[in-house]
Amino acid sequence: MTSPAASPDEAHTRSVVLDGVSHDFHVKGKDVRALDTIDLTIQPGEFVCLAGPSGCGKTTLLRLVAGFMNPTGGRITVGGEEVRRPGEERGVVFQQPTLFPWLSVRRNIELGPRLRGVASADRSQLADTYMQMVGLKDFAEHKPYELSGGMQQRCQIARVLANDPDIVLMDEPFGALDAITRERLQNELLDIWRATGKTILFITHSVDEAVFLGSRVMVMSPRPGQIVLDESAVLAEGEEQLAPEQIRSLPAYTELRDRVRRAIHETPQGATSS
Ligand SMILES: Nc1ncnc2c1ncn2[C@@H]1O[C@H](COP(=O)(O)OP(=O)(O)O)[C@@H](O)[C@H]1O
Ligand SMILES: [Mg+2]
Repeated sequence: MTSPAASPDEAHTRSVVLDGVSHDFHVKGKDVRALDTIDLTIQPGEFVCLAGPSGCGKTTLLRLVAGFMNPTGGRITVGGEEVRRPGEERGVVFQQPTLFPWLSVRRNIELGPRLRGVASADRSQLADTYMQMVGLKDFAEHKPYELSGGMQQRCQIARVLANDPDIVLMDEPFGALDAITRERLQNELLDIWRATGKTILFITHSVDEAVFLGSRVMVMSPRPGQIVLDESAVLAEGEEQLAPEQIRSLPAYTELRDRVRRAIHETPQGATSS
């Protein structure tokens, strides 16, 4: 449950559109339908949280939008262009940090810009900006193994942001963290979203996380995944100033959380083919 991001001039302009997207996996001679005819438009600057039970197809949907694979039915476009492969305008944050162990925090963050040919001084400045943003400034020369899990995840987020994607795709990025670190990173991610105006698609199986973070919350049914709830979850004016625990006790928050919980628990199991 968030307030709208950033000033319009900072907002990005590419919508993500899923048009009748289905996906079948071929397993042991049989087709297993993971996603079933999903229609969905994500507007620029939205923070969309997608929740749903394990195995319902959340990761599959994210991987399709990332372009790691192509849907077996329907079509995905970003800014009107069909997604066929990964692209610079889409950055992906995985549950487990994917950092190069032999590179320092600074060098991990600089890697993307370096591969894009950004000059050394500009790279260094980019790394400073994003290390500051995620609170890793004092750890610039540390290697990933010298960081806690939360710090590694911060580094991964900074690394993705340094590539300046319009759209950030996050697959349960805080799932492996302890509760306190998780809440801290949720708050930081909201600050980053408000400051940058990025479009975020955030996958989680936590109802509370989805409702707390999203400007829009969706629930996916058990496999084959379909969107069974899609609601905007925007704070009233001034409410973003409230402390996280106050936000969590707002009537609008608790009501939405209950609806999301019911949607997850009451949706019947879809047809299974395995
Ligand atoms: N590479 C794959 N090959 C075969 N089946 C897969 C593959 N990836 C996912 N699946 C199946 O697709 C369904 C959805 O998986 P997934 O998208 O990972 O769900 P979630 O992320 O919601 O837990 C599951 O039944 C899973 O077993
Ligand atoms: Mg998953």
